[in-house]
Amino acid sequence: QRHPIVALDGPAGAGKSTVTRRVAAALGLLYLDTGAMYRAVTWLMLDQGLDLADEPGVAEVLSQSEIRLEPGTLDPAAPWDLPPVRVWVNGQEVTAAIRTPEVTARVSRIAAQAAVRSALVQQQRRYGKTGGIVAEGRDIGTTVFPDAEVKIFLTASIQERARRRQQDLINQGQGTVDLGQLEAEIGERDRQDSSRSVSPLIKAPDALELLTDGLTIEAVTDRIVALYRDRV
Ligand code: C5P
Repeated sequence: QRHPIVALDGPAGAGKSTVTRRVAAALGLLYLDTGAMYRAVTWLMLDQGLDLADEPGVAEVLSQSEIRLEPGTLDPAAPWDLPPVRVWVNGQEVTAAIRTPEVTARVSRIAAQAAVRSALVQQQRRYGKTGGIVAEGRDIGTTVFPDAEVKIFLTASIQERARRRQQDLINQGQGTVDLGQLEAEIGERDRQDSSRSVSPLIKAPDALELLTDGLTIEAVTDRIVALYRDRV
């Protein structure tokens, strides 16, 4: 017997992390950012100077390493701009280091490797063993928690996702990046995530697809919270 699980999947830039954290706070559940785990593995391999295409080498290093996420609990009254979840690799904090453009550009290559996925999925299932969590990623509803009570597939048009990403970068003081370039980068990550052979990004048949173009974070959060209260 476990508590309910909410699975939130979707492509890069659909607003998943903000929405996941708001939903978790509103429902008093833990949240699990599985993308942060793939990013942490990517950071580790770059830090070790490993050839990312060397799959046995990557698997070997990963088997000797520890990826740790802070248990994500949130105060519902917390401000909108929540800090990202804290992450450690072999005891070293990498919370900021896993968000650099270098890691972002390479993470899909690591996430396509079967050995990496099976190790991380196992760890994610351990985090979700007793339920009571909202997990976000690409394969939560299909692979990690196929029996989740609530499954959402969050999307937005590529133009909208590029606009949001541009605004995030401006807010972070990183200046203005060309929209066309951002659309190309997001499109490339979508292509890699959807076309890989192991656990590709696809909507679970029983997931509710929410297109968030023109919707506020509050509106999307309210929809999911209402769905949860309806189901659970
Ligand atoms: O969500 P975020 O953008 O941080 O995820 C980074 C990358 O990690 C994705 O582009 C994808 O390649 C990979 N990922 C995955 N499966 C998950 C979560 C993330 O393959 N469940």
